[in-house]
Amino acid sequence: MADRTIDQLCEKLLERREKASQGGGEKSIAKQHEKGKLTARERIARILDPGSFVELDEFVEHRCSNFGMDKTVFPGDGVVTGYGMVDGRTVYVYSQDFTVIGGSLGEAHAKKICKVLDMAMQNGCPCVGINDSGGARIQEAVDALSGYGNIFFRNVKASGVVPQLSIVAGPCAGGAVYSPALTDFVYMVDKIGIMHITGPQVIKAVTGEDVTSEQIGGAKAHNQTSGVAHFFASSEDECCAQIRKTLSYLPSNNLEEPPFKETGDDPSRLDMTLREIVPANPNKGYDVRDVIKRVADDGDFFEVQPLHAQNIVTGFARIGGHSIGIIANQAKIMAGCLDIDASCKAARHIRICDAFNVPIVTFEDVPGYLPGLNQEMGGIIKHGAKLLYAYSEATAPKITVVLRKAYGGSYLGMCSKDLGADVVLAWPQAEIAVMGAEGAANIIFRREIEASANKEETRAEKIDEYREAFANPYAAAARGFVDRVILPEETRYALYQALVMTSNKSEMRPRRKHGVMPG
Ligand code: HXC
Repeated sequence: MADRTIDQLCEKLLERREKASQGGGEKSIAKQHEKGKLTARERIARILDPGSFVELDEFVEHRCSNFGMDKTVFPGDGVVTGYGMVDGRTVYVYSQDFTVIGGSLGEAHAKKICKVLDMAMQNGCPCVGINDSGGARIQEAVDALSGYGNIFFRNVKASGVVPQLSIVAGPCAGGAVYSPALTDFVYMVDKIGIMHITGPQVIKAVTGEDVTSEQIGGAKAHNQTSGVAHFFASSEDECCAQIRKTLSYLPSNNLEEPPFKETGDDPSRLDMTLREIVPANPNKGYDVRDVIKRVADDGDFFEVQPLHAQNIVTGFARIGGHSIGIIANQAKIMAGCLDIDASCKAARHIRICDAFNVPIVTFEDVPGYLPGLNQEMGGIIKHGAKLLYAYSEATAPKITVVLRKAYGGSYLGMCSKDLGADVVLAWPQAEIAVMGAEGAANIIFRREIEASANKEETRAEKIDEYREAFANPYAAAARGFVDRVILPEETRYALYQALVMTSNKSEMRPRRKHGVMPG
């Protein structure tokens, strides 16, 4: 072997690194930019704290020789993997590189992803995956399929152990969609992110429907209609900011508590405007996000799935520096009733919060479940049951604030004392009953109303009688179903006190392999 100096060897390493960092080469990078997309490395740089990225496996190559693949070898094999920091905490990342064989996934590519998922689990840190790929590398056949299987397996193993966040910033089609779907949150970038099981041509051939990619797989479609995605981003920069913000509310793993964030916002701050926001008349709407923002630290509420099932609001906030997950009926959309989509959306958010020890705060103003053939035949029974299941299963602190209506089964469905709420607070206008006063009076006083000379007068009297008896928080408070009736302006402080009081909560359940989630 010819003599080589250390300087020459270092030079060689630097050359190799430089080549690896070029992915598919200048031309492909220019093409990626022309499509309005960042490169795999540019994306990682935007998510992680500056200069913190440590790349792994940059020299990994595939070993496929089918169809001349031995002449198409790129260091890194189309996915950039490694770890770095987000706000000073370690986070693992993988970012598919579309400039290398369309970011397609073969054996080596999949092994790199599996390695960071294994490391994330082993070291108790979140993993962020960025999807931009033509899917299974066709030349690698079953090895590519096996690669996906290995990723799915790890996604499931890591579920509830470390947070898993998936960005879709390019094509993500066929079975490939199931990795993001198995993770906690899906972020789609408008115009460039596409997710579907089968594309427009296949749909045309099979069902005869004419659809566009955007219609079946775009960021709007999945954020608004299907509910597959949780965050809609207008740009890649916005998406990276959403990732960092999500992580700020979550612990690095299921054995840790969520990070505490100092705030100058006094936890005992009273807010008199809360009296104005929620009308005492149960038939009037309002935006529950106004209540949440008034109560949260610095008015900051980070909404999850803001475009889907808008009759329920889910998200994260902080009170006195403590991270909380929020579930709130949205009175201004369908009167805040519970339907299939709302139940599924809320149940999932509850389970994510519970998995990561984030206290669950519920703002309740719910008239009931949405009636209708579509709902019954769509399975509102099994989907509505998910909400009961998720609340009952959760052992993280659970605090419920009854703002106004809490009727019937939906009263239970929004985390009543019976489903294990640690603290139930109620505002003075709360109505906790089997149903609204009008409906109730019409049923139980039907004979008296029918028999009376002045039916409308009697009806009004009976409605008032029922309202007086039950359309208030005191009947429930008298039984201990409500722990405290509070003034609206006291809500922030009452929540803070409840959060501090439950901060050492520990609840053991009977041993089991796992429960069986309805649906
Ligand atoms: C191998 C692929 C590839 C793939 C793209 N490329 N997808 N190579 N396997 N799956 C290559 C292209 O041949 C091309 O190579 C380069 O990547 C860039 O692709 P373009 O077609 O030029 O890019 P664009 O026009 O932007 O189109 C992107 C695309 C298209 C829509 C994703 O490439 C496409 O339709 N690809 C095939 C998608 C597909 O059917 N995948 C299998 C899905 S099934 P050159 O050399 O020309 O630059 C699947 C099952 C997973 O994934 C199952 C898991 C259980």
